[in-house]
Amino acid sequence: MSTNEGGRFQIGVIHGPNLRLLGTREPEIYGHTTLAMLNDQLEAEAARMGSTLLSFQSNHEGEIMDWIEAQAGHVHGFLINPAALTHTSVGLRDALLGVDRPFVEVHLSNVQAREPFRHRSLLSDVAVGVVYGFGPDSYLFGLRGLLNHLAGS
Ligand code: DQA
Repeated sequence: MSTNEGGRFQIGVIHGPNLRLLGTREPEIYGHTTLAMLNDQLEAEAARMGSTLLSFQSNHEGEIMDWIEAQAGHVHGFLINPAALTHTSVGLRDALLGVDRPFVEVHLSNVQAREPFRHRSLLSDVAVGVVYGFGPDSYLFGLRGLLNHLAGS
């Protein structure tokens, strides 16, 4: 896919299961930032870098796969917090590989410092990069990394 005018990129942002509860969900782990606040921060960062976002949240694996398939022709890459699907979903891995778009995996929490079942990701080895442990900044760093990757590729 060629760049938009002015060298801009469009990025698909995906928030996986239970992330619409951000702000009230286990705040000692995930903090107090709501999903709306996080999306606002991402929009501002994308605009600062001359790019645009399409954002999506779903609790349903199949809906996320459908969205990836539907949006792949409209975005240059994906920024994804797969949430619990990180650790379980071959289907999500296959969907991302199937559309052949670069993606960055992000997590709010430091998944390596948590329960052993969170240490395994079915996506990390096919991601451009992975950022975790920085709360909402994980998304912002991930977005910057993805945009810089696209600019260099
Ligand atoms: C998470 C970590 C996952 O293990 C968990 O299932 C989530 C959120 C994170 O952002 O830290 O729902 O992806």
